Amino acid sequence: MLALTYAGYGDPSVLDVTTRPEPHAGPGQVRIAVRVAGVNPVDWKIRAGQMKEWITTRFPAIPGSDAAGVVDEVGEGVEGVKVGDEVFGSGADASAEFAVLDEFALKPASLSWEQAGGLAAVAETALRTLELLRPSAGQTLLIEGAAGGVGSAAAQFALADGVRVIGTASEQNHEFLRDLGVVPTVYGPGLKERVDALAPEGVDVVLDTAGLGSLKELIEIAESAESVVSIADFSAPEHGARLSVGITDPRAFHALEKAARLADEGKFTVPIDSEFALADAAKAHERSQGGHVRGKIVLKVA
Ligand SMILES: NC(=O)c1ccc[n+]([C@@H]2O[C@H](COP(=O)([O-])OP(=O)(O)OC[C@H]3O[C@@H](n4cnc5c(N)ncnc54)[C@H](OP(=O)(O)O)[C@@H]3O)[C@@H](O)[C@H]2O)c1
Repeated sequence: MLALTYAGYGDPSVLDVTTRPEPHAGPGQVRIAVRVAGVNPVDWKIRAGQMKEWITTRFPAIPGSDAAGVVDEVGEGVEGVKVGDEVFGSGADASAEFAVLDEFALKPASLSWEQAGGLAAVAETALRTLELLRPSAGQTLLIEGAAGGVGSAAAQFALADGVRVIGTASEQNHEFLRDLGVVPTVYGPGLKERVDALAPEGVDVVLDTAGLGSLKELIEIAESAESVVSIADFSAPEHGARLSVGITDPRAFHALEKAARLADEGKFTVPIDSEFALADAAKAHERSQGGHVRGKIVLKVA
């Protein structure tokens, strides 16, 4: 099969489309003929060698964990999914003609292949962090970095539960956030004053998706470190805040199913930042690496 590969760590130019052996579904897994694969920041961080302390990479490596496509193999013990079903989910080595998914759900009719292909990791991360923060209806959640993949997914999950969401983004993304139902403000110096003005009654919980040095101010805004969860600031525990890192977890099925259900109810969408052919994946990684993605970047495989 054709796959996006790289033979060693490096800049985006190490990415190439080559021929690799097809993977097969093991117990609990499905294999899909991939239509669209998602791009997440961790993909370029692994490719650049920034994650080698935590993640072992065997070369040639195939980047990516998110994909959507048509099931063509069903592993032992899998229930509720059959060959021919359209699904989305996550697994290893997803940027290829065939990928094996560990977590998957039926693709909702309301989402395009592009939207479904970019959904799994951000849905899992957003729901995992919200389940730590537990905002309830009527409470206020502040999201640092609300226009990105995780931020926009978390905002929509919270809004669907009746939570008020204030989100930071650059000015150019404020209309985008308003359209999602988020009250926008810019990130950077003076954030506490801006948020105080938008939420005089206070902010109940904070999700930091950016990890770009604002953690102390976010804790001041929440008035309690325990009310702050970061997915990107590894110093969070030193400040008493929580760091949540991704793991393969049966709860991911629940996040995928919830996102699919809300999408069909018109309460959840996956904004597409940009689409690239597999052969142009270097441009997709450069775009992700630039740090100003609105929604999701995806790779069209078939
Ligand atoms: N721990 C985990 O389980 C986990 C899971 C998924 C992702 N992550 C990590 O979480 C981070 C976000 O992931 P993602 O997929 O949401 O990324 P993404 O889609 O690339 O979004 C990045 C967002 O960050 C915003 N941003 C840029 N500079 C900022 C700043 N100084 N302050 C606040 N926001 C800023 C950008 O908004 P503007 O364009 O408006 O500037 C953009 O929307 C990445 O570092 C990723 O590796 C961790």
